[in-house]
Amino acid sequence: MLNNGLKTSVFAEQEVYINKVFKLLPQIYEYKPKAAVITFGCQQNVSDSEHLKGMLFKMGYTITEHTEEADFIIFNTCAVREHAQDRVYGNIGTVKALKKNNPKLLAAVCGCMSQQESVAEKIKKSYPYIDMVLGTQVFHRLPEFIYKRLSGSKRIFERDLPNEEIVEDIPVLRDGKYKGWLPIMYGCNNFCTYCIVPYVRGRERSREPEKILAEAREMINAGYKEITLLGQNVNSYGKDCAHGVTFSKLLRMINDIEGDFVIRFMTSHPKDCTEELINTIRDCKKISRHLHLPFQSGSDRILKQMNRHYDREHYLNLIKMAKERIEDVSLTSDIIVGFPGETYEDFKETLSLVKEVEFSSLFTFIYSPRENTPAASMPDPVTREEKGIWFDELLKLQEEIALKNQDKYLGKTYKVICDSVEGDGLLSGHTSGTASIEFEGDESLLGKFVNVKVTSCDGALKGVVI
Ligand code: 5AD
Ligand code: SF4
Repeated sequence: MLNNGLKTSVFAEQEVYINKVFKLLPQIYEYKPKAAVITFGCQQNVSDSEHLKGMLFKMGYTITEHTEEADFIIFNTCAVREHAQDRVYGNIGTVKALKKNNPKLLAAVCGCMSQQESVAEKIKKSYPYIDMVLGTQVFHRLPEFIYKRLSGSKRIFERDLPNEEIVEDIPVLRDGKYKGWLPIMYGCNNFCTYCIVPYVRGRERSREPEKILAEAREMINAGYKEITLLGQNVNSYGKDCAHGVTFSKLLRMINDIEGDFVIRFMTSHPKDCTEELINTIRDCKKISRHLHLPFQSGSDRILKQMNRHYDREHYLNLIKMAKERIEDVSLTSDIIVGFPGETYEDFKETLSLVKEVEFSSLFTFIYSPRENTPAASMPDPVTREEKGIWFDELLKLQEEIALKNQDKYLGKTYKVICDSVEGDGLLSGHTSGTASIEFEGDESLLGKFVNVKVTSCDGALKGVVI
């Protein structure tokens, strides 16, 4: 199918390899082999890992969480910050000892780190026990690579960014039974100067609306009560296509699917967040009253340096509109502290924005230089220690805001999906925003919607089913 020149391909080629591996495994292992998928990073990676598990399961592997008992291990990596990357190297280093105990073990690295040439080279030279390194746009070819390696091929390094096509129909084994991820687009066109994502995930590619709607229907029929639409910048959904379905339109189409379920989405970019989107959240009863809108910095000077294409005023106008039009809206954001050249005066602008908006929660990061991004070569005179002090100041401010606002939940009733049993035996679920609530109840409530009245807000919310 043509999608502005982009091809939506099917998974058929790999089905052939799935069958080949399925027949080969019993010849290699005298037992049913196990596979572990170790995931780092964002929800996109979590979703990709569910597809890796789907393929591995179909090939004949049992899925395990424990690398010590696995016959195939794949590390699905994240490159967005250095810390995440260091953790991955620590993890893949353990494969050497695991292979001593299990010489038939195969190990692979995929995800955003493996898309970087320097990483692939480092693994090639310094981690000879890693059998394959797969870039972000070839991970669906896992069956082919496993088949080739099990049949005696040499180590596999495949990190092409092919025709930027979307591969549909990859098998999926979802982690959750009631809440599920649904990718609607891949890649990013924004090139924020600090961010490695556009380099490792390629250009924006939107899935066809029919494919998304079909998957959403499938999930609802299978009992999913919450669907989270995923993309690096969901607001620009459809801009790469001729079909004319915008993100707001897509949301309305999903909202119209019959059934009782909640729609969430992430991540939104303030430059593409429209009045139409805010009105859509207001109008569609199945969309959660939550907007994750990363502002990154409160300083116009820094926003320009970051190449974010909006200013503080624009951001605050969006927030004002969201608060006015969406009842009880929960707002969350991402913030970077210590971008190159940021002064304490700039940082104070971030603090004042946080004070003004009063977010429900924040994801805060200290700037981490990423290879080959424009920001990595900008002068960065503030020490890491100093940035740490600013960062703590931001956390303290957010804690004060959370404490001040925690009583707002008291006495209110929320419709929540009962999705897990906590260690203390209480059941737990989420409000339409982001807060989690614990309450007493029978396990038969799992996977169902319940109305919970909040009775205490001391730290975690506690409530009773009414
Ligand atoms: N350093 C620190 N934080 C970063 N993010 C992205 N790149 C970097 C970086 N180089 C943060 C942004 C983004 C979130 C997913 O990760 O805040 O919104
Ligand atoms: Fe990175 Fe900016 Fe794209 Fe988000 S929008 S993935 S921060 S480049």
